[in-house]
Amino acid sequence: MLADRRIVLGVTGGIAAYKAVEVCRRLVDAGAHVTPVLTAGALRFVGRTTFDALASERAETSLWDEEHPIPHTRLARTAEAVVVAPATARLIAAYRIGLSDDLLSAALIATEAPVVICPAMHTEMWEHVAVQENLRVLAERGVTIVPPEEGRLAGGDVGKGRLAEPETIVRVVADLFAPKDMEGLHVLVTAGGTREPIDPVRFIGNRSSGRQGLALASEAVSRGAKVTLVTAAAPPEQPTMEVVPVETAAEMEAAVLERAEGCDVIVMAAAVADFRPAVVSADKIKKERGVPVVELEATPDILANLGSSKKPGQTLVGFAAETFDLRSNAAEKLHRKGADFIVANDVSVPGVGFEHDTNQVVILSAEGTHVETEHTSKREIARTVFDTIMAARAGNQ
Ligand code: C5P
Repeated sequence: MLADRRIVLGVTGGIAAYKAVEVCRRLVDAGAHVTPVLTAGALRFVGRTTFDALASERAETSLWDEEHPIPHTRLARTAEAVVVAPATARLIAAYRIGLSDDLLSAALIATEAPVVICPAMHTEMWEHVAVQENLRVLAERGVTIVPPEEGRLAGGDVGKGRLAEPETIVRVVADLFAPKDMEGLHVLVTAGGTREPIDPVRFIGNRSSGRQGLALASEAVSRGAKVTLVTAAAPPEQPTMEVVPVETAAEMEAAVLERAEGCDVIVMAAAVADFRPAVVSADKIKKERGVPVVELEATPDILANLGSSKKPGQTLVGFAAETFDLRSNAAEKLHRKGADFIVANDVSVPGVGFEHDTNQVVILSAEGTHVETEHTSKREIARTVFDTIMAARAGNQ
């Protein structure tokens, strides 16, 4: 997807500038034509020679000393995407207010190409209201923000603010050029584990992190779909889709059923609780009164309800987290719930399913076909799930 694409790679002055070298290398390896643009701050952390050697063109560093008299407009016009990694708080603020005080900020303001901003800074700076507001405004303008991760920062500090991994950044840039084969479709994805209250402070929950659901929602967005994410997990920062936060199975059911009619594809990736306390205590249950007996009742089965009222042309996808007899359990679920596909994973395998960034699944269809994936990232799994769904939809037309 990146072959022959002209990418401007902006690098600003943070300790994470060294990781931009890896971003540059990966973009070039993927076939992109990369022009690095380093700010004066970046040059204090990394040398331009490194980028000169790796990239397709000499690194550019100034509005004034280049051969071309107006390098910012040349860059802005020829770029098919501009990615800034790392982006400092200064660059983000300059871009938000339209301040063009160096080559990179001038090129950002002059370009009509899609822009990807990958912030990296100390946690205190990342959390500052001004930085968050600037990013919100940029996201509203259509700029793609790749949020930083938790980890080691400059000076031995640990916290949120570490530049996203080069692999993630390059994937986001590649997504800009992904085929928009889901344009015109409304996709609803559920994510996370529901929480069923026992009393005002305690709940019955499960290990679902919501990562697979979010990966599915993001993949559908990058393929051009209109996406609604109904999530019992923490909502994503700077979401690129409609997000409906819920807590319990009953809330998730209400949110899904309200929207189901207008959806072309529904993917129930959430780990919906199967049981909930039959009675929820209005007050905190005091331990001094002895160990309580909590009676459970069944929750509504959202997927089965959707399966029994499926509208023509709608594709219904369920997930199955199993610890044994993966195939036969998933096949039984496919039938019982009236779904078109079941994506089954064996959560007893290390690195698969709950709380991991990776997964390995078998996708069973009601038509009797099956697709097995490698052990790979949840985003890659999402891609295979939608490839499978879209192939079946094309076949059924
Ligand atoms: O029956 P089981 O929980 O194993 O089925 C898993 C699939 O069914 C998942 O897609 C999950 O989102 C969905 N489900 C549901 N409502 C429930 C329980 C599970 O929609 N109450």
